[in-house]
Amino acid sequence: MSATATATVVTEELTAGIPRFSDHSPREFVGWFTPWLVRSAEDLDRTFGSPSIQADLLDAVGSLAVLRAAGDGDAFFAQQYLLSRIYALHLQLPTGDTAEGSVVLHAVTRRLELDTMAAEDAWLDESALSGGPEDMEDYVPWLKDLTRAHRAFKHPYYHEFVRNEATPADLRTYVVQESAVDSRFDDLLALMQLGTSGAEKMEIAANFWDEMGNGDPAQVHTLLFSRIIDSFGITEAELAGGLSAEALLSGNLAVLCCRYRYLFPEAVGFLAMTEWLVPDRFSQVLHAWRRLELPDPAIVYHELHIGVDAHHASGWFANVVKPAAADPAARRGMTRGALWRLNSSARYLDHSLAQAR
Ligand SMILES: [Fe+2]
Ligand SMILES: [Fe+2]
Repeated sequence: MSATATATVVTEELTAGIPRFSDHSPREFVGWFTPWLVRSAEDLDRTFGSPSIQADLLDAVGSLAVLRAAGDGDAFFAQQYLLSRIYALHLQLPTGDTAEGSVVLHAVTRRLELDTMAAEDAWLDESALSGGPEDMEDYVPWLKDLTRAHRAFKHPYYHEFVRNEATPADLRTYVVQESAVDSRFDDLLALMQLGTSGAEKMEIAANFWDEMGNGDPAQVHTLLFSRIIDSFGITEAELAGGLSAEALLSGNLAVLCCRYRYLFPEAVGFLAMTEWLVPDRFSQVLHAWRRLELPDPAIVYHELHIGVDAHHASGWFANVVKPAAADPAARRGMTRGALWRLNSSARYLDHSLAQAR
């Protein structure tokens, strides 16, 4: 294509303009922008790179947060869906063009991330954030007490609904939503370990090796998770498009914590809660599985994690959380990450329960 022809195409695209929410819905905006993610970074930067156009684009992205804060569920979904599609560029090998390296896309990503963190921080109160005991011996028991008192702990979605009421169709829905985190836990650990050393790195490495089935390809956790996906006949399209805003947020927060070195303390707190809450939650799923007499091979992932994650959580608390708790900034970051996880999990489970009943 000649330079003139390229310029014409670009001009036509811009004539269509960046959708305004007065004329278009948040979902339409994201539907319009998402195809740019599988075009080249150069394409994206050439089209949106001028300061005024980029500013319009970032305004449109920022509007999702404004609408979400005003209670617009579609804007919340659009915001988290777009972030999840962008993260997919960073976590999956491309099959064609990708905007991964685009400068404009980085600005869009950062807008989404800052807005997402601000929304989580709005749920936190300063007394909890700064309340962690100074004595590192006391920090882990304090964090566990905080968790036990939280709505996310022993949530009725697991303890009442999944355990006693869920049908196979309900469990199918549950598995689709859970894929936001469970289907890529190994990569989250791989991201998280960058720049660590000593006991922290050893703990992540041990955790990672468990994810790899301790060297047995048939026991790799993501493979075991895929068995339950397959047992329900869940398609790739459902996994890509069937997640709720709350589920997308849980997955996005995990990636967000793990991909930035400056958020390492948040990642430590976030992962500690994720691991620590799993055994009790998965026990309820296993109970439902047995109650419904569903096929055993598909539930191996959950059965295995009841033991494995109890072990991971205790190692994580003893070898990573406790030593880091001596530092006030790390303590605050770990508490922040733990509360991000607990609060987002509680909202996710509230939503799942409301949808299910
Ligand atoms: Fe695992
Ligand atoms: Fe684990």
